[in-house]
Amino acid sequence: MLNLILLGPPGAGKGTQALAIAGSLGLHRLSTGDLLRRHIRRESQLGAQARVFYDKGEYVPDCLVVAMVKEEITSFLPENGMVLDGFPRTVAQAEALERMLTEIGKRIDTVIEIDSDTEEIVRRAEGRRVCPEGHTYHMVKNPPRSGGRCDVDGLPLQQRVDDQPDTVRKRITVYHERTKPLLTYYAAKGLIQRVDGTQSIEEVTESIQHVLSNVGVR
Ligand code: AP5
Ligand code: MG
Repeated sequence: MLNLILLGPPGAGKGTQALAIAGSLGLHRLSTGDLLRRHIRRESQLGAQARVFYDKGEYVPDCLVVAMVKEEITSFLPENGMVLDGFPRTVAQAEALERMLTEIGKRIDTVIEIDSDTEEIVRRAEGRRVCPEGHTYHMVKNPPRSGGRCDVDGLPLQQRVDDQPDTVRKRITVYHERTKPLLTYYAAKGLIQRVDGTQSIEEVTESIQHVLSNVGVR
């Protein structure tokens, strides 16, 4: 059982690494970004409320995101544990998560901060293409095998609306303002481990695996 949080600025590689780690350790991956994109695509009530914030690169209000995650966690009850990608992002979300997990007798084991720098983040966002199920590619650094379609499910790849350079810069600013206090919050609990996200995809995965073996989780 391992419950792991991946934190980091937009484009640091949280989604890419969450898929790799969840796959290799048999964990459930929970990405609030992917869940929100699904709601927006399906034009649900939550999707309509979230879109106003999402399209501008702002955080969706805590109450909406927490309710969405609660529904996901209680419907899945992931037995082997989970990788949380992009949640929590605020101290209020972290406190809500702690209450949810306590209710089902679980806790967070470790929090990994994947760090990157602004220019690299903007380059990654420009080249990123995603499939509707959240599989992620980079047209130069991690291209799909068959042109514009996902290797896993064959669905067409698209650019995210929030990957325009101005919106990416906005998302970086929001991260610094809203999520940096969360790093302090988890550091005070002794849970934070840092990984250099400017390395290659494979090197970042190795660094995360190294951290996990060092903290004795696996
Ligand atoms: P979300 O979808 O979570 O976006 P994000 O945090 O901005 O992060 P990204 O998904 O952009 O980047 P990533 O770190 O996953 O990197 P990736 O692996 O794709 O959230 C989007 C929006 O939803 C938010 O702005 C907000 O509005 C809302 N939201 C979501 N959660 C919320 C919450 N909890 N509270 C409130 N609002 C919330 O990699 C990026 C690219 O780089 C890819 O092309 C990839 O192939 C490539 N790449 C990855 N790693 C490497 C590497 N090491 N070297 C080279 N290329 C790499
Ligand atoms: Mg992501």
